[in-house]
Amino acid sequence: MAKTLLQFLTEEQRKSGLDNGLIQVIGDVANACKTIASAVNRAAFTGSSGYLESENVQGETQKKLDVITDEIFIGSQNWTGRVVGMASEEMDDVIPVPQDVAGKGKYLLCFDPLDGSSNVDVNISVGTIFSVLNAPAGVTTVSASDFMQKGVTQVAAGYAVYGSSTMLVLTTGNGVNGFTLDTNIGDFVLTHPNMTIPADTKEFAINASNMRFWEAPVKRYIDECLAGKEGPRGRDFNMRWVASMVAEIHRILNRGGIFMYPLDSKLKDKGGKLRLMYEANPMSFIVEQAGGASSTGRERILEIQPNGLHQRVPVIMGSKNEVETVVSYHKDA
Ligand code: AHG
Ligand code: MN
Ligand code: MN
Repeated sequence: MAKTLLQFLTEEQRKSGLDNGLIQVIGDVANACKTIASAVNRAAFTGSSGYLESENVQGETQKKLDVITDEIFIGSQNWTGRVVGMASEEMDDVIPVPQDVAGKGKYLLCFDPLDGSSNVDVNISVGTIFSVLNAPAGVTTVSASDFMQKGVTQVAAGYAVYGSSTMLVLTTGNGVNGFTLDTNIGDFVLTHPNMTIPADTKEFAINASNMRFWEAPVKRYIDECLAGKEGPRGRDFNMRWVASMVAEIHRILNRGGIFMYPLDSKLKDKGGKLRLMYEANPMSFIVEQAGGASSTGRERILEIQPNGLHQRVPVIMGSKNEVETVVSYHKDA
């Protein structure tokens, strides 16, 4: 019989002593993702499409679904007593949980409730990204400083992708496994055990409209890919850009590739486009656990010492040999 997420996690617990509380946090996240899948799927019936008047802390105009999915995610966690506090793309400050349950929790959660939200009204894949950290011992009232832990300390990370099917892809530091939502039984079922990223690839993903703003090493790498068989790489490359990081990384986990949202002259002041705590770190953990690599071009993302909940970083991740090539071009420069 097919293995459900809970069966899988219970077996992991027998093998490697996964904490009960962590299993429950992941179970609650999985339930949030099912609810988000339904909210996204039914938006046209429920009047949830389109924009709000409000902006989030990033200065981005929020979509109705950014806020709805944020509320769903928070609601799945803030009553359980397993999580002490959360940080979300859509919330300026940390999200504390009620004091009567906060003292019992061992974990912190960072999340992007709806990744790729520019795609949500045009029926293109979107996702949810999450990262679980240990809460500092004894903390009951969280502050942002409690979250300032390097990505290497994550105890679990994952994403849900709402595409032609809904999938949950997860790591607890012991490889990467993919579960598909079987809507007939309402459960995530293990369909993609032990996902690994091939070391080599002929496919890159970057928003090429920013080409004139890129730094020299990134320009060099893409120019060489575009030169194809006749160029220094000696092979033809293919390009994809979904504009949903979750969808790009999911493709890369399935068939390899390199994904880049590099630093460019437009983004220099901000430090990058993608956010460290709830986009770059969880995705880097997953990609490394699948045998890939992840870097800013200058350093391993998982080793960055965070300095803010909404800190942005350059991102270059995916097939190991290609990421290493881009990193070596940064060294040459
Ligand atoms: P979000 O919808 O959570 O703000 O994230 C969107 C991110 C990421 O998913 C994607 O790779 C990138 O922004 C797309 O950026 P462009 O619109 O510049 O292509
Ligand atoms: Mn995002
Ligand atoms: Mn988002």
